Amino acid sequence: MQNKKTVVLGISGGIAAFKAAQLTSNLIKKGYDVEVIMTEHATEFIAPLTFESLTKHNVMVSTFERVADRSVKHISLAKRADVFVVVPATANVIAKFAYGLADDMLTTTFLAAACPKIICPAMNTGMYENPVTQHNLELLKKYGMEIVEPDNGFLACGDIGKGKLAELALIEDAIEMALYPDKPLRGKKVIISAGPTQEAIDPVRFISNHSSGKMGIALAWCAKALGAEVTLIHGNIHEHIPYGVETQAITSAQEMFKAFQAQSTDADIIIKAAAVGDYRACDVAEHKIKKKESSFTLALTKNPDILQWLGEHKQAHQVLCGFAMETEHLLENAEKKRVEKHCDLLIANDLKAAGAGFGVDTNVVTILSDGGSIQYPCMSKREVAFTVWQRIIAILKQKGESLC
Ligand code: PMT
Repeated sequence: MQNKKTVVLGISGGIAAFKAAQLTSNLIKKGYDVEVIMTEHATEFIAPLTFESLTKHNVMVSTFERVADRSVKHISLAKRADVFVVVPATANVIAKFAYGLADDMLTTTFLAAACPKIICPAMNTGMYENPVTQHNLELLKKYGMEIVEPDNGFLACGDIGKGKLAELALIEDAIEMALYPDKPLRGKKVIISAGPTQEAIDPVRFISNHSSGKMGIALAWCAKALGAEVTLIHGNIHEHIPYGVETQAITSAQEMFKAFQAQSTDADIIIKAAAVGDYRACDVAEHKIKKKESSFTLALTKNPDILQWLGEHKQAHQVLCGFAMETEHLLENAEKKRVEKHCDLLIANDLKAAGAGFGVDTNVVTILSDGGSIQYPCMSKREVAFTVWQRIIAILKQKGESLC
């Protein structure tokens, strides 16, 4: 996606207004054009100069400010906005948005804008939980706006509760996802697995692998951006979970298997990007195994093959996508897995290819289907994920699914 999109950032008068400066800086670094509108009250918390220095644009506060090109600024800005995000959104400004009040630059531009709109509330818990505020937020949701829920935490007023501005990484996700206007996966349920499994040996040791979860997370991010309802079943990972993605944490292959058995019937699309342990210890020692002999043999037993099970239980409407991590004979091994495990698509990656595999932000993949195989160049995992989703969307269309 071309990054020269215009993000209009509305800032209303709450203590979290200072966090809007970091958000602006992050968006500028990602290549977006950011236009800032502040309420008069917001300027009490942070100076417009901060945003002017970051964006290289004048910050708009007053509706009656004269602009050099004589344009009606709130209308021209509203027309230029690709996405409108309000950070922080106070109870007051939320109420105004909900009822179409337009008495300053922020509210007039907001009312005039037809682009996707994102509201990031931040306020005292009592104000947030007040039924009036909740009702206003429900109204905004009904009008199709995205509400990035605040977190629980320590608030500026000294209370501890819900009302802390959501993490900036989540707000950035919501902004970038909104910039994908087509939502072909709307109404589709997607389950993606990511990360490693850990197979216990004793209370302190386990067998695992180097999967970071990045590939599965990139697939989840794109699925969400394309409108799907996404559940990520993941092993031990330390990566940021994308905005709006439901998660279920598991440890072992058996736990992952149970999670899929419980949830897969409802899914329209299943992607298995996790690196699942093929074997586990026959017996998990109750106490730490003591060091005695010079060598030690551990008896292992086979784990359930989850992808195989999913393939055997696949419903007519479902699309199943597996991965294959190989270090030799990539295509032969991957094709064998695709056929045996009844996958619609099999994404093969070779651990030995530069820029591919575990931990890195890129991957080099070959996508296999019953129509043959296509090899792709080294791409970011997000680009790989979008490529996979394009292929899945094509399969859904072939199955006669009507997509949004
Ligand atoms: O997480 P990252 O650091 O970003 O790395 C990404 C990745 C390299 C882990 C990912 O791109 C990948 O290749 N995932 C699959 C790794 C793997 O386990 O490959 P496999 O060839 O052993 O397994 C084949 C398929 O069967 C996989 O979809 C796997 O999830 C599934 N499987 C394997 C064993 C098992 N018991 N149950 C399974 O479901």
